[in-house]
Amino acid sequence: DWTMSAYREEAIAAIREQVGDQKVICGLSGGVDSSVAAVLIHEAIGDQLTCVFVDHGLLRKGEAEEVVKMFRDHYNMPLIHADEQELFLGALDGVSDPETKRKIIGKLFIDVFQKHAKEVGDATFLAQGTLYPDVIESVSFSGGPSVTIKSHHNVGGLPEKMGLKLVEPLRELFKDEVRELGRELGLPPSFIGRHPFPGPGLAIRCPGEITREKLDILREADAVYIDQIRRHNLYDEIWQAFVAILPVRTVGVMGDGRTYDFACALRAVTSVDGMTADYYPFTHDFLGETATRIINEVPGINRVTYDITSKPPGTIEWE
Ligand code: XMP
Repeated sequence: DWTMSAYREEAIAAIREQVGDQKVICGLSGGVDSSVAAVLIHEAIGDQLTCVFVDHGLLRKGEAEEVVKMFRDHYNMPLIHADEQELFLGALDGVSDPETKRKIIGKLFIDVFQKHAKEVGDATFLAQGTLYPDVIESVSFSGGPSVTIKSHHNVGGLPEKMGLKLVEPLRELFKDEVRELGRELGLPPSFIGRHPFPGPGLAIRCPGEITREKLDILREADAVYIDQIRRHNLYDEIWQAFVAILPVRTVGVMGDGRTYDFACALRAVTSVDGMTADYYPFTHDFLGETATRIINEVPGINRVTYDITSKPPGTIEWE
């Protein structure tokens, strides 16, 4: 009988066997995948593992603090917190093409990760929370038409460049199985249940040019939206929910005055593995209340829309 506790034991034995007494570095994104990978590997080899958390300035509200608190303070893992916001946001200045954004972020991520990984010294292995669907998507898109659909920066590139061997203990698992493994490993339920978050972060939820102003507005609006979803007890029914700030200002009225602020789009989908998705059927009451809260509580936004596109033909993210 195949169970998660058996998988855990097998995975731990396999990691020990592969790694021996060598050092491993792991990029921690704050997402479920890299977190589960890190905890699993830490359980297998203890302080032979060092995590590197890169803050590219494209994280959600309070996210960096949460990650550092959990891994450094709660799990006592050796953790390097690389605050590289200036570098990433500087390089993204004026860039609006989605794939160019991904390439810039992916390249800088590799540079920064390499720089900080040197602090660890003689690491031999790089750990990644690559899942089965990541493996499939990156394979099926390569060799296709000239367009690369997604250049996920967590797949490929880094290990070769750094001369490191890969440890990928989640490679055979789907998302729901990773969550089950995380529960098995004792990660807090609130953390395990977290919606997936893309490597390029808020950059691809800010279509068009990225500015600090837009990112700050987006972070606030997203926090209100997620709070609404939690208050209405809908978080666990939804695969992914987020706000995208649109590259357009619209006219509104507030009190006696006219406003000219950003419009945003709410996105929420159900999905099994992210490959296909349906938009979430919120009630009109929920949508109305959420729009009112965002407009009242988030300066800089005066219009809220709801995205009812399913995947396919849409994607989950806006870029
Ligand atoms: P799409 O938008 O392609 O997203 O329907 C499917 C899933 O993948 C995530 N996603 C990314 N994850 N780097 C990542 O690590 C990326 O460039 C990227 N683009 C999309 C997205 O959040 C969703 O879960």
